[in-house]
Amino acid sequence: MSKTLTMAPLISLLTITLLTTPAISSVDSFVYGGCSQIKYTPGSPYESNVNSLLTSLVNSATFNVYNNFTIKSPTSQDTLYGLFQCRGDLSNGDCASCVACAVSQLGTLCLDSSGGALQLDGCFVKYDNTTFLGVEDKTEVLKKCGPLIAYDSDELNRRDGVLDYLGTSEGSYKPFRVGGSGDVSAMAQCVQDLSASECQDCLSEVVGRLKTYCGAAASGDLYLAKCYVRFSKAGAHSYGGNAVDYHDHDDDDDDDDEVQKTLAILVGLIAAVALLILLLTFLRKAWGHGECKLLVYLSLHIYSSLYCDPCTW
Ligand SMILES: *[C@@H]1O[C@H](CO)[C@@H](O)[C@H](O)[C@H]1NC(C)=O
Ligand SMILES: *[C@@H]1O[C@H](CO)[C@@H](O)[C@H](O)[C@H]1NC(C)=O
Repeated sequence: MSKTLTMAPLISLLTITLLTTPAISSVDSFVYGGCSQIKYTPGSPYESNVNSLLTSLVNSATFNVYNNFTIKSPTSQDTLYGLFQCRGDLSNGDCASCVACAVSQLGTLCLDSSGGALQLDGCFVKYDNTTFLGVEDKTEVLKKCGPLIAYDSDELNRRDGVLDYLGTSEGSYKPFRVGGSGDVSAMAQCVQDLSASECQDCLSEVVGRLKTYCGAAASGDLYLAKCYVRFSKAGAHSYGGNAVDYHDHDDDDDDDDEVQKTLAILVGLIAAVALLILLLTFLRKAWGHGECKLLVYLSLHIYSSLYCDPCTW
């Protein structure tokens, strides 16, 4: 009987893990990154400005979905500008961990670069010593179309309708937009240093280009420097575990990727449980009562080694 009692916290911990993990890994998945060619001198004031700017971004992401910072320097070439933008549907906690993840990846990707930008699934981070804050920029950064599929004309109209809806102003400032119809879902996000009209202009431009580029594709993503739009037909491609957050499709024909991911998680969990039971049995004999703390420690350890790559700290 006491054995069952001991296992209870483990089971609940593993259940929580199972339920929350896919969302975490999806928010942190890499979309694109780029660095300025110019390098600063390591150990220079520029470096300490970069560090303090990036730290400010990480701290601020605990309370905001968007913020900008300027680190002033006596010499104008050392003055730094930076911002982060989280996807509008993220919780404070997910936003903060996404920005922390992006900043840590930027540090590796753009080592000693005077500027850099990184887009993860859930957030965007950029810093540079040229002013880009509040500047509309429709440079194409990334476009990705899914496989071509046989849309009938109804479906195609519905898809275009959803995209048009995202590209249309409703009067109020909406930097994050979602839409869906049938099994088509889509989302749009502006970087909030843009004004309402600039955001509107950027999104309607992306929608136009996306319809051209990814005509009959099952999914499409188009990222400009300051805004992006993504769409997908259910079963063809998914945004990951968070997809349910912005489209409610009742049919459950999940992505192969999702199924594989879930399978991998399940296999991992079963292995972890088996291992823990073995360990427990052993420890029970060896130590008697210390197993509970150890159990929690081990579970967390396995949790982080399984799921927190590449952003573990
Ligand atoms: C940005 O910083 C780099 C490295 O210190 C410098 O060479 C460049 O002139 C700076 N650019 C501006 C616009 O200040
Ligand atoms: C930058 O941040 C300041 C202070 O939070 C805010 O007043 C300003 O509007 C922001 N600028 C842009 C371009 O977002």
